Amino acid sequence: MKYEITNQNILKIKADILVLGLFKGSKFKGSAKLVDDRLGNALKTLAEEEKFDGDKGKSIYLSATFGRISAKRIILLGLGEESAFSAHVQRDAGKTVGKKAASVCSSICLSKELVDGVKDIGPFVEGLILGSYEFDKYKSAESAGNKIAKLIIASSKIKDDAVSKQIERAQVLSDSINFVRDLVNEPPVYLTPTRLADIAEEVAQEGNLDCNIFGLDEIEKRGMGGLMAVSRGSNEPPRFIHLTYTPKKKPKKYLAIVGKGITFDSGGLCIKPANSMLTMKMDMAGSAVVLGAMKAISKLLPNIGVHGLISASENMTGSKAYKPDDVIKAYNGKTIEVINTDAEGRIVLSDALSYAVELKAAEIVDLATLTGACMVGLGSYTAGVMGNDKKVIDKINRAAERAGEKVWQLPMDDELRGELKSEVADMKNAGSRWGGAITAAMFLENFVGDTPWAHIDIAGPAFSERAGALTPAGGTGFGVRTIVSYIMGT
Ligand code: BES
Ligand code: MN
Ligand code: ZN
Repeated sequence: MKYEITNQNILKIKADILVLGLFKGSKFKGSAKLVDDRLGNALKTLAEEEKFDGDKGKSIYLSATFGRISAKRIILLGLGEESAFSAHVQRDAGKTVGKKAASVCSSICLSKELVDGVKDIGPFVEGLILGSYEFDKYKSAESAGNKIAKLIIASSKIKDDAVSKQIERAQVLSDSINFVRDLVNEPPVYLTPTRLADIAEEVAQEGNLDCNIFGLDEIEKRGMGGLMAVSRGSNEPPRFIHLTYTPKKKPKKYLAIVGKGITFDSGGLCIKPANSMLTMKMDMAGSAVVLGAMKAISKLLPNIGVHGLISASENMTGSKAYKPDDVIKAYNGKTIEVINTDAEGRIVLSDALSYAVELKAAEIVDLATLTGACMVGLGSYTAGVMGNDKKVIDKINRAAERAGEKVWQLPMDDELRGELKSEVADMKNAGSRWGGAITAAMFLENFVGDTPWAHIDIAGPAFSERAGALTPAGGTGFGVRTIVSYIMGT
């Protein structure tokens, strides 16, 4: 995004939208007062009529300025309590502007009150880019589809070199998030495991990452029995994807981030009811976050090495489909009795996690749309976190807090472990309904050995069926910010 810093008079700045801000209960002052005076108190009058008091999330929109000022439109943002003004409030404010901007404009001017005294304007810029996101590639009527081309910052205080870094970082993060949203929204007929692997290769090429992709033969030869079994019911061959980021200076250690890449989950022979199958294109959201995070770090250049690992497959009902009662051997040699073919995510992850252990990753974090049970427990906006290591779990908790994403730890209750005991194999792939998110994590634990590991169940927040006030319908990109923050802070 291009930007310009100017100390020109706010009334004279040419822009498609001028953005003003007001804290809760505050009088019109500064830029807002100057503009309101020039407009014959149009803003103040609207504010009174609409009972706008600077409340967070509220805003006033003026769609014309009739040549009284040089900007064409105005948004007056409610910023909430001044004492509670945070990066998260700024990001949401940016989203409000971005949403409007998506349909009307290409240049946006921020008044000085929105930037002076703010340590980092990055979150606001992130909001702008995220808020203007639309997934319209399959609509024949072209939407306006304007991208915000230019940001004008009306301030005499702000420093150019600091701002340019902040904007660049915000752009990297939000582009990665929108990339993840695109992947999750893509219909499953197009986004097959093969296509996902091709996209991974593009990410690698663009970001100078090492890229290793295994096809069906290689997966079989290497003994990735989980991925083999789950993919057998589909005509689409599976892929195992391995990207590696290595910093310039030889790193002391490598982290591994692992993603569930089920490009469509029909449930397999334990088939889902029609209504639950709808949206199951999103079952690759974990893998999309891994690709999005790899894309981001290839530009943010942390000093630590990172492996990005993805097991990609469809879960279908073809005549070769794996069956309940089958026994599968995973990459680390452990055997799994199939109780339910719809608990396929943990099975394909078993190979990827064992592979991460083999790579000697210092820490492993996996992301997966793993269980409906996690959504029942935590709702649609919060991810579940579990694992075998308090330090890694705490790191994820702190990273999520910095990122403004909600995660909540669920307990690895020892009394639940018995649920996965099998009469014929080392473990079953599913227990009873109760504590389903936890038993899923306990299943995964069998494949990480002693490596410190955290598992993030993003079944709830990865996808929203309806648009929210500030969020689009469909893929949300949840997890990218947390994972990038975790990597940058490790
Ligand atoms: N992909 C689903 C989990 C899911 C459900 C994600 C709803 C997002 C929204 C997963 O593969 C699954 O089917 N899990 C089963 C496990 C059960 C059979 C043990 C579930 O949660 O019902
Ligand atoms: Mn399933
Ligand atoms: Zn699934």
